[in-house]
Amino acid sequence: MANVIVIGAQWGDEGKGKITDLLSRSADVVVRYQGGVNAGHTIVVQDQTFKLHLIPSGILYPDTECIIGCGTVIDPQVLIKELDQLEALNISTRNLLISETAHVTMPYHRLIDQAAEERRGTHKIGTTGRGIGPTYADKSERTGIRILDLMDAKELREQLQWTINYKNVILEKLYNLSPLDPEAVIEQYLEYADRLRPHVVDTSLKINDAIQQRRNILFEGAQGTLLDLDHGTYPYVTSSNPVAGGACVGTGVGPTMIDRVIGVAKAYTTRVGEGPFPTELNGKIGELLCDRGAEFGTTTGRQRRCGWFDAVIGRYAVRINGMDCLAITKLDVLDELEEIKVCVAYEIDGQRSKDFPSNARHFARCRPIYKTLPGWQQSTAQCRSLDDLPRQALDYLKFLAELIEVPIAIVSLGASRDQTIIVEDPIHGPKRALLHTNGMPTSVLSAEA
Ligand code: IMP
Repeated sequence: MANVIVIGAQWGDEGKGKITDLLSRSADVVVRYQGGVNAGHTIVVQDQTFKLHLIPSGILYPDTECIIGCGTVIDPQVLIKELDQLEALNISTRNLLISETAHVTMPYHRLIDQAAEERRGTHKIGTTGRGIGPTYADKSERTGIRILDLMDAKELREQLQWTINYKNVILEKLYNLSPLDPEAVIEQYLEYADRLRPHVVDTSLKINDAIQQRRNILFEGAQGTLLDLDHGTYPYVTSSNPVAGGACVGTGVGPTMIDRVIGVAKAYTTRVGEGPFPTELNGKIGELLCDRGAEFGTTTGRQRRCGWFDAVIGRYAVRINGMDCLAITKLDVLDELEEIKVCVAYEIDGQRSKDFPSNARHFARCRPIYKTLPGWQQSTAQCRSLDDLPRQALDYLKFLAELIEVPIAIVSLGASRDQTIIVEDPIHGPKRALLHTNGMPTSVLSAEA
C-alpha cells in the first residue's frame, strides 16, 4: 500500500498527465486536490488523445475511483462537457466522485477574471481567464458557492439572488459590463446540479476509508510549484496550492498518511503567462523547443515560453515538496541540439546564489549561470532503457540528478505510454526525505552516496 503525491516541479505543463496516467495503473483511487479548469492534461492512449481539465486521468482505467477533492474549484459547465465527451467514447464515469465542499466557479467569476486582467494592463498576470482567482477569492472572503449549496435548490436560490445582485454592481460600475440575470443563472445551475448529483459525496470520508482499507491513493497535483500561491513567483501564480502540502488540505487527509512525493519536470523549462523566467530563450533555440515540444497550452492554446533547465528551481521544488524522486519528461525534445545549457546558479546583484529567492522582486533580477553540456544529436524516441540512451543523454540526466539532489525514477521520451524508461520503482524506491543524513540513495540516476 502506498499513498503518493505527484506534483509539478516547474511552472506547470511538466507532463504530469502522462506520469499520473502511468502510475494510475497501480492506484485504486486518483484524487485531484487543487485548481480548476485552468489545468489541462493531455493523455494519449493508442491513437486517441484525451484532454481533461478537471477529471483525474485515472478515469481511463475502469476500476479506478476518481475523486475531485474539496481544494479544487469546479466549473460545472466544463465538468459536464468532460463527462459527456468521455461517455461518448464509451469510457465509464460512474467512478467519479465530487467533494460537496469544493467551491463552484460561477459566470461572474469568469467575467471578473477577464475584465480584471484587462484593467491590470502592463501588470497583468496572464491568467487563463477561467475565473480561478475570483472563485478562490470568494472562498477566502466566505461568500463562495459550494457544491453542497448547488445541491440544495432553496439554499442556492437564496444565496445566488443576493450574490448576483452584489456582483452585478461590480460588473456594471467597475468594469462597465452588462449585468447577469439572476434567474437565468439560477435555472442553469440547478440543471447542472441535477446532472452532477449522483457523483457528489463527502470525499474526505471516502479517501480516509480507502486508506483504512489499505488501497493505493494517488494525489494528482495540477499546475506546478512555481505557480503556488504561497511558494511560487507571486503575484505571477495561480490562486491555489499545487505543492505537495496542498494535497492534505485539499482532500481532508492527514500528512501522516502520505508515503511518497514524486516530482515531474521537463528536461527544459516552460512557462505560460507573465512573470520572470531567468532561463527563457527568445531566439531560434526557444522556437525549436516550442516546435519540437508542441508547447501550446491544453486549456488556452497559448504558446508557452521556453528555456533551459533551471536547477535552482529544481532544488527549490525538491525542498518545498519534500520530493522523493523525479520523473523527467520530454527528453527527446532536446535530441537535435548540438549543446545544451543548464542553469546551475543565479547571479543577483553581483552575488552567486544556488538558492531560489523568496522575494519576487529579487527573482526578477536573477541572471542564470550556465554549465554547457554536449548534445547527443540523435533520436531517443525509441529508447526503452537507460542502456539504449546515447552516452551524452545519460550524462545529461546524471548531471541534473546530482545538481538537484534527487534520484530520477522515470524518463519520458514522447507522449505515448510506451515511450518511457522506468529507472527505478517510483513508488517503492528509497525515501529521499529520510536518507539525507546518510547521503543520497545510490541509484543510476542520482548523486553517489
Ligand atoms: P489562473 O490560474 O488562470 O489564475 O492563472 C494564473 C497563472 O497560472 C497564469 O500565469 C497562468 O498561465 C498559469 N497557469 C494556470 N494554470 C496553468 C496550467 O495548468 N499550466 C501552466 N500554467 C498555468
